[in-house]
Amino acid sequence: QMEFDLTERILLHLESCEEVDTLHLAQQFGIEHQKIVGAVKSIQAHGELLKAEALTHKSLQLTEEGQSVALRGSHEAIIYAAVPGEGGIAQADLLASGGCNAKLGFSKAMSQGWLWLDKSVQPPLIRRRVANIVDHVQEQLLQLQLQLAGGEAQLSVSDLTDYKKRKLLQELSIKSFRLSKGPKFATTLTKLETDLTMDMLATGQWQQLRFKAYNFDALGASPMRGQLHPLLKVRTEFRQIFLEMGFSEMATNNYVEASFWNFDALFQPQQHPARDAHDTFFIKQPAHCFELPEDYVRRVQTVHSVGGYGSLGYGYEWQLAEAQKNLLRTHTTAVSARTLFQLANQAGGFKPAKYFSIDKVFRNETLDATHLAEFHQVEGVIADVGLTLGDLIGTLHAFFCKLGITRLEFKPAYNPYTEPSMEIFCYHPGLAKWIEVGNSGVFRPELLLPMGLPRDVNVIAWGLSLERPTMIKYGINNIRDLVGPKVDLKMVEDGPICRLDHV
Ligand code: PHE
Repeated sequence: QMEFDLTERILLHLESCEEVDTLHLAQQFGIEHQKIVGAVKSIQAHGELLKAEALTHKSLQLTEEGQSVALRGSHEAIIYAAVPGEGGIAQADLLASGGCNAKLGFSKAMSQGWLWLDKSVQPPLIRRRVANIVDHVQEQLLQLQLQLAGGEAQLSVSDLTDYKKRKLLQELSIKSFRLSKGPKFATTLTKLETDLTMDMLATGQWQQLRFKAYNFDALGASPMRGQLHPLLKVRTEFRQIFLEMGFSEMATNNYVEASFWNFDALFQPQQHPARDAHDTFFIKQPAHCFELPEDYVRRVQTVHSVGGYGSLGYGYEWQLAEAQKNLLRTHTTAVSARTLFQLANQAGGFKPAKYFSIDKVFRNETLDATHLAEFHQVEGVIADVGLTLGDLIGTLHAFFCKLGITRLEFKPAYNPYTEPSMEIFCYHPGLAKWIEVGNSGVFRPELLLPMGLPRDVNVIAWGLSLERPTMIKYGINNIRDLVGPKVDLKMVEDGPICRLDHV
């Protein structure tokens, strides 16, 4: 309503005069110029009621420094005043007395001939050359200030450029509009329709109505939309890299796994501490899994208890009941075990294969800033004839290179299922240090041969967490800020898409 009043006020004003500047209107109405311009724009939306011609006014203004000169005197006058009338002052003391513009004031005062340097004494002294001065700069700025308040100012071009250069004056340009009546001038605005309704169409009323023009420049309201969590974005990037390298994704859709696949098939002995309830979540209901491949289970039992395939085994009494215990998988290598077993037993026999998985795993951890009881693992597995540790190292370089990581170091490690095993470290240029990023190795024959894989087939594999690189990439220091009830949804909403700088 306010806006409407203003548009009509402007039109009424225009009725009684030939033309008017919007700046003038603002002054006369006592309303902000920007509001007048807004009202003019909305009048224009109604058609050619008025003509508006853009104008630029240049106006002068004293800068803050200019105002201070007008008030306290020019820099050179201040310096002159700081020199004692009788005697003199050392240049260093003078400059120290005069604040930040002392140097400028000093050189101006010297070139004006107000001061001189007396070298006949040691140290040389600055003395007054004249008994009094007239501060033209201050006078002129004071006068200018008065003139500007009254409207127009008189100033020579050379003074103007000089003052502008000294940053005492600045020129402002103000944009306004010169308004005059348009071909369809009227003093009232008919309300413009914004919606074409079915009624208007049915009654034919639309022919009489006037419609508001579309504003194609208006910014739309941003629609409500779902957001991907940073982990999912980084997961997408990892998946893309594996797919580019020709890996296919393993089926990871079973969080509950039999101990057999999570541990036994991986040649992890039944007394291994990781198989303790302290480290692993066991399932109460159903507590056991009875669907395990019988022949294979027997071969696993044999290799654990008495060995085979050139291995001595562990020499303990392997229990089926222990292998049947259901748990929440502690690593995605359980899925790799299932998949390799399938590969060994597929119709048509073994074919070289490259697999990956990215999914959740669960561990009975003490929770802290970097550990949660559930997290994600990224895992890659390659099965082929005659693979070596060199293939593993080369593959890791190729994989991490695609993540933008070019410097890798390896440290010997131990896993029950791989020999040799290597921890993977990478140099992080942003953090300027070496950080551990994963674990890897060559799967043991005690694991591959009972599955039924050909003797000359080797399998290399590596695993890393998804959370760690995500935290580094998104600059999150506490894992609870990334996952769990304390997550700031704003972080998810505003988080940029993830770009691992592919090479
Ligand atoms: N399963 C290992 C872990 O949980 C990672 C790994 C995968 C190690 C494959 C070697 C080979 O840390």
